[in-house]
Amino acid sequence: MPYFSPELTKIIEGFLKRYETKRSSILPILHAVQDEKDWISDQDIDALEKEFGLSVIDVREVMTFYTMYRKSPPKPYRFEICKSISCWLMGANESIEAVKKEIEKAKKEGRELPFEVHGVECLGQCGYAPSTLINKDRHNNVTPEKALALIKEYSAKELPKAAVNCAANLAASQKK
Ligand code: FES
Repeated sequence: MPYFSPELTKIIEGFLKRYETKRSSILPILHAVQDEKDWISDQDIDALEKEFGLSVIDVREVMTFYTMYRKSPPKPYRFEICKSISCWLMGANESIEAVKKEIEKAKKEGRELPFEVHGVECLGQCGYAPSTLINKDRHNNVTPEKALALIKEYSAKELPKAAVNCAANLAASQKK
């Protein structure tokens, strides 16, 4: 039985036909795998070699070079805080630290908050610094206090459908 879904298999085969060498099709193929599965596991990499002849070594090289490929299941909410100049001047680093500390504090108390935090480049809302995104929701003027309030607000919400899948992936990977 094929490892990948029929839709994803079709996409992968399309990329393999489009590019001159298998190696040059790795980037778009990895994007397609990640789009469907949220992240790229060791099993996915093995299956790419077994079913499509993509060398595990080549795929791993690409995965370790580029940061946009996720090597572990993402948390339900990706909290992005801009750390470019305007936001940095308005205290973005303090907001990032506040979120990190809150995540750590919860962990020590045996609670897993559904967030991962990332300092990112300009989000195009420099007039409202520090600017942030939680998944696709934009929040502006995010001081450390506001960041903690957002964590509380989102933690109390029902998880969106995509986030439920992420949570299931995360739980499955932690059982291994
Ligand atoms: S510098 Fe932060 S949004 Fe532009």
